[in-house]
Amino acid sequence: MNIKNNLILALDVTNKDKAIEICKEVSPYINTIKIGYPLTLAEGLEIIKIIKDEFGANIICDYKVADIDATNSKICDLTFDAGADAIICHGFVGSDSVQACLDSANKHEKEIFLLTEMSHPGAKMFLQKDAEAIAKMGVDMGITNYVAPATRLDRLSEIRNIVGDDACIISPGVGKQGGDAKKTLEFASAIIVGRSIYESDNPALACEKIIKD
Ligand code: XMP
Repeated sequence: MNIKNNLILALDVTNKDKAIEICKEVSPYINTIKIGYPLTLAEGLEIIKIIKDEFGANIICDYKVADIDATNSKICDLTFDAGADAIICHGFVGSDSVQACLDSANKHEKEIFLLTEMSHPGAKMFLQKDAEAIAKMGVDMGITNYVAPATRLDRLSEIRNIVGDDACIISPGVGKQGGDAKKTLEFASAIIVGRSIYESDNPALACEKIIKD
C-alpha cells in the first residue's frame, strides 16, 4: 500500500458530514484513511465506499477482528465487499483465526494488518507478554503488514526486528497518546493519527506540522 507522507488518518468521528469535511481538508496530505467502529457504527458499512470514492483513498478498516475462524471469514468478506483495502486483525486469537482473515484477503486481493501489541497502557496487562510471539506467528504465516505501538518505542523496535525491514508496520499512538512522529518513523513505516488531526481547529495545518516535525 502506498501511504502518502507515511501518515494515516484515524477517522474516528461519528458523523458522515464531519468525516467528509475532515477528509476534504486533509486530502492534500493524506491518501490513507483508517475507519473504525465509531464511524462505521454511526453511518454503516456504506461509509467505506463513500470515503473511498470521494477521495480515492486507501481504506484500512480497524475492526480488530478477533473471533473464531468461521466468523472472522464472514467479517473480513463483508468488509472487503464493502470496499475496504485492508483490515486490522488481532493476532492473540491464534493462527487458525488469523488464517481465515488472510484467506479472505487473498480471495479479494486485499490485505490484512496483524495487530501485535496495542498502544494504550492496558496493553501491558495481558497483550504485551505475547506480542513477540504474535509477530513471529505472523512471519511464519507470510504476513507482511503489522500494527505496533508508537507509545513504546522499545517494543516497536523489537517487533520491527522480528518482522524484518521489508514488512510494513503502521503505528498508532502519536499525538494524544504521547507518541512522537519522527521517533516512531525510525521503526514504523507509517504513523496513525486521529484526535490530533480531526479535533484540531485546522486539520490541514495539523497534518503539515506532523509531517514537517
Ligand atoms: P488517536 O486519536 O489516539 O487515535 O491518535 C489512534 C487510533 O488508533 C487506534 N488504535 C489502535 N489500533 N492497534 C490498533 O489496531 C492499537 O494498538 C491501537 N491503538 C490505538 C484507535 O482506535 C484510534 O483509531
